[in-house]
Amino acid sequence: MIYLGADHGGFELKEAIKQHLLEQGYEVEDCGTHSAESVDYAPIAQATCEKLLADKGSLGILCCGTGIGISMAANKVHGIRAACCSDYFSAKYTRLHNDANVLCMGGRVVGAGLACELVDVFLNTEFEGGRHQRRVDQITAIEQSQG
Ligand code: RB5
Repeated sequence: MIYLGADHGGFELKEAIKQHLLEQGYEVEDCGTHSAESVDYAPIAQATCEKLLADKGSLGILCCGTGIGISMAANKVHGIRAACCSDYFSAKYTRLHNDANVLCMGGRVVGAGLACELVDVFLNTEFEGGRHQRRVDQITAIEQSQG
């Protein structure tokens, strides 16, 4: 299952990504927003991330205007490693090296064509593990030390 979420700034991009994923046969859960009407991104990030974490091994895609606010909110949820990307290399390596479980993008930053390429490489790249596991564990340890 791929969990999708967006505010109004990322709404159109989320819709394009949803269509792209459905065409490829992915199962998608759209956690909103469902219109271009102004809405706050933090609660949508939280709700999407909580659903994703309850479904072990699943991945998420979040969009806002820049991709930044919604990624900041997502990263406050323990267990989430959200990466805001607008280039192919980052979208690939955040899976390989960071085991990112959420890809964030800005609807006012990237077009739908590029975004779908970023989604494809993100979803089709596996975490490398090895020395990167230790580093990801260190991120988790920071989270745990914060209570
Ligand atoms: C909403 O106008 C905008 O601030 C939001 O979508 C996002 O870009 C925040 O980081």
